[in-house]
Amino acid sequence: MKILLTGGTGQLGQEIIKSKPIGVEIFNPSRIQLDLSDYNSCIKIARDYKPDWIINCGAYTQVDAAEKNIQLSQEINAYAPEAFAEATNEISTKLLHISTDFVFDGEQNFPYKTSQKTNPINQYGYSKALGEELIKKKTKNEDNFKILRTSWVVSPNSKNFVLTMLKLHEQKDTLNVVSDQIGAPTSAKHLAETCWTIVNFRSNSKLPNILHWSDAGVASWYDLAVAIGEIGIELGILNKKAYVNPIKTINYPTPAKRPKYSLLDSQKTCEILDVYPNHWRMNLLEIMIEYSKIKRNELI
Ligand SMILES: NC(=O)c1ccc[n+]([C@@H]2O[C@H](COP(=O)([O-])OP(=O)(O)OC[C@H]3O[C@@H](n4cnc5c(N)ncnc54)[C@H](OP(=O)(O)O)[C@@H]3O)[C@@H](O)[C@H]2O)c1
Repeated sequence: MKILLTGGTGQLGQEIIKSKPIGVEIFNPSRIQLDLSDYNSCIKIARDYKPDWIINCGAYTQVDAAEKNIQLSQEINAYAPEAFAEATNEISTKLLHISTDFVFDGEQNFPYKTSQKTNPINQYGYSKALGEELIKKKTKNEDNFKILRTSWVVSPNSKNFVLTMLKLHEQKDTLNVVSDQIGAPTSAKHLAETCWTIVNFRSNSKLPNILHWSDAGVASWYDLAVAIGEIGIELGILNKKAYVNPIKTINYPTPAKRPKYSLLDSQKTCEILDVYPNHWRMNLLEIMIEYSKIKRNELI
């Protein structure tokens, strides 16, 4: 099986590469080989490589910067997926596109179902929702695309909340962290395994076009920051932890509005795929153990 992978340097892309099943060939173009903001290059690379699947993890993920860079965020998050959808019409390829909880407004207080209408509240969310719409509109054969939405992705690599908090716990005595935004932290490693389960699913047509996946449980950013401090001390990654002070979103203004409630209802996806997520805290421990190994190896 041949896979065209975008975003191979990102959190999820790296885990997709690490967990590649035997017999699978991955082409993971560099930025020089593929700029996702170039629609024609996206189609051309698919035409030339003729993959069985395109796994589109590449994205413009800077939520605040997207408020200013509206056009670029749309080119990468909406028109690149559209180009890959177009490619599924021309060559025999399928598209697995990764999307986000930020397509919803966060105004409800029970997990979002795949069937619910999107209503993004910031430019990043808007660009990702537009990407989903364009894929649905463009793909002629419904069986040829799957959109997998996820939330709060974390890993031992790249830039993410876990790595930022680890640094801040060491540097500061008090951390002010938002406690009124609720979601589910999701391990990039286990998300990658779910991507492979989707790609290898025997009766692809029985899989819904929209799927949800996140780790189990619920957390606020505050809960996550506290857990990172506790596990950091337990594992000896941190010499000290800061006092984490819960604050309200209103006291932490950002250029982009954030949804207050980001939980995705993954039940249907779990039942169909027969894979069930671990609690986020269990996966956080795994991530931080992996992080400490990486740090130890860097010292050798
Ligand atoms: N992170 C989250 O909390 C979160 C939550 C929900 C959903 N998601 C979705 O999950 C997917 C994976 O996210 P992630 O956290 O792995 O993202 P990430 O770590 O920010 O990685 C983004 C990837 O996209 C690549 N990229 C960005 N602009 C590009 C361009 N113009 N041309 C080519 N490549 C480009 C980056 O390449 P460089 O390394 O060269 O910049 C990087 O490999 C995305 O679709 C994202 O929207 C993420």
